[in-house]
Amino acid sequence: MGRRALRKIESSLDLSRNLRRLEELPRPWDQAAVFGRLAAMELEVGTGKGLFLRTAAAARPDVDFLGVEIAPRYARFAAANLARRGLTNALVVAGDAVRLLEELLPATCLAAVHLYFPDPWWKRRHKRRRVLRESLVGHVERTLQPGGSLHFWTDVEEYYHTGLDLIARETRLEGPFEVLEAPAQADMDYRTHFERRTRLHGRPVYRAEFRKAT
Ligand SMILES: C[S@@+](CC[C@H](N)C(=O)[O-])C[C@H]1O[C@@H](n2cnc3c(N)ncnc32)[C@H](O)[C@@H]1O
Repeated sequence: MGRRALRKIESSLDLSRNLRRLEELPRPWDQAAVFGRLAAMELEVGTGKGLFLRTAAAARPDVDFLGVEIAPRYARFAAANLARRGLTNALVVAGDAVRLLEELLPATCLAAVHLYFPDPWWKRRHKRRRVLRESLVGHVERTLQPGGSLHFWTDVEEYYHTGLDLIARETRLEGPFEVLEAPAQADMDYRTHFERRTRLHGRPVYRAEFRKAT
């Protein structure tokens, strides 16, 4: 993502409830140990600066939100925004989303998976670095509970169609279902920072939702 300077994090801020390295998570996975309770859990892949995580965690305190972000300084930044708001139902995991899904998360543990504006890796020889790939969609299907949903939004039309083809080919998820654009009521009233940036530049956002059969 765009590498602008990030706001400095106060050294007094306690991130212990909102930030964990992948290697620090319990194996086998133990949601009660991670969040201190058992509740419906949703995963965001590629949290970035964390707008989705903090908005969703504040709006739905009955749900636990797990964000996974491979860039450590973005993971810290997103976690700091949660800590400043005292949100204990959201945790940023610093690490690779594919590893989190492959190595840790058990079958049917997620009510939803959110994948917003994954890096497009434009150059042909770099495209295999894209996070939306066979292994990821297979694990998304495995970890979703029946009735659970996958939300995939991007500003890259080619990535959108490649993603939809991949999901149709590799999974039995139902969809894509249409997702309508909601008008923004305030400056930060967007799903993510990248959605905000894309829409403020007047560019289209491609959105799809899939569901696992009940
Ligand atoms: C273009 S940014 C979008 C951030 C955010 N979702 C948004 O919409 O504002 C993509 C993010 O995915 C992260 N990312 C890329 N590959 C990843 C992976 N394998 N696991 C976790 N995060 C990843 C990047 O570091 C970056 O922060």
